[in-house]
Amino acid sequence: MSNEFKGKTAVISGAAGGIGLALAHALAEQGMNIVMGDIDAVTLAEASETLKEKGHNVVTCPLDVTDYTQWESIVAKAKDTFGKIHMVVNNAGVGGTPGKIEDTEHATWRWVMDVNVMGVLYGAQACVPAIKEHGEGGWILNVASMAGMMGMPYAAAYCASKAAVVSMTESWIPELQPHNIHVSVLCPAFVKTRIHESHRNRQEKYAVAKEKRISKEKLKAGAQAAATAVESGIPVSMLAERVIEALRSNQTYIYSHPNYRKVTSGRSKAIDMAFIDAEQSPVVGHLINDDIITF
Ligand SMILES: NC(=O)c1ccc[n+]([C@@H]2O[C@H](COP(=O)([O-])OP(=O)(O)OC[C@H]3O[C@@H](n4cnc5c(N)ncnc54)[C@H](O)[C@@H]3O)[C@@H](O)[C@H]2O)c1
Repeated sequence: MSNEFKGKTAVISGAAGGIGLALAHALAEQGMNIVMGDIDAVTLAEASETLKEKGHNVVTCPLDVTDYTQWESIVAKAKDTFGKIHMVVNNAGVGGTPGKIEDTEHATWRWVMDVNVMGVLYGAQACVPAIKEHGEGGWILNVASMAGMMGMPYAAAYCASKAAVVSMTESWIPELQPHNIHVSVLCPAFVKTRIHESHRNRQEKYAVAKEKRISKEKLKAGAQAAATAVESGIPVSMLAERVIEALRSNQTYIYSHPNYRKVTSGRSKAIDMAFIDAEQSPVVGHLINDDIITF
């Protein structure tokens, strides 16, 4: 697949701010046409002006990633405006509410899973046919997180959603490789954005009845810790520059925080040790030479 971006078209979800907006600028600098979608229409309009002022080709479309019909609309708008789609950046995501197992409302889990997982699925389902149809190949860039590579206490919903994004990416790579569509997953640690204020975009359909709401007092410590961590993060411009670099060399896993390598290598080591335990098991050890079955 060519990694030449110039003249091609990228659809970006959650493009009104943070990482999505930084990626919009970085991809536009590479000569791409940019289609920006976001649930926050006012901020989206302001954000698109910052690209237009630089002379970039950009169009916006309202997009709540949990609503598939809005994905159909943004795809239609992208094709009407620029003819073809080559890339989807599944960036929109929410942080949820850090809290204990028993202090995380079901509605919060559903919100996080719908935006972070179903939003990514819908983005791929809406855009992949459009990328396949011109035969020029393209890209899916899924924005997961280091949280997809490690569990974190009090953040199970967010971590589970991001692990799902890693897994979806790994499943789509072999499926889309024959179509020249490169699938990659971005796994940053902390980046200075407004992710810790995700509640500003929480849709009415995920509201929690007053009597079931967890007290603000209980959630305060987690919220403060999340804010402090996010505010210590790297700048979005640095992340966006790293993404362009990694896309150019066709990376599958895109890391921006090399200091976190010990996390993934520690996890791999623990998994490997568990396999050694299985190999030595009198119950299942004899399976060691069997063929691996996949489909
Ligand atoms: N900031 C970090 O430390 C960090 C680290 C790892 C991964 N990420 C991931 O990066 C992605 C972008 O987050 P960010 O850090 O820029 O946060 P952000 O809150 O600054 O930006 C998120 C954007 O998504 C939009 N959005 C929220 N819900 C939406 C919905 N239902 N439909 C469409 N748009 C919606 C928001 O309006 C906003 O413009 C997320 O997937 C997040 O999980 C962030």
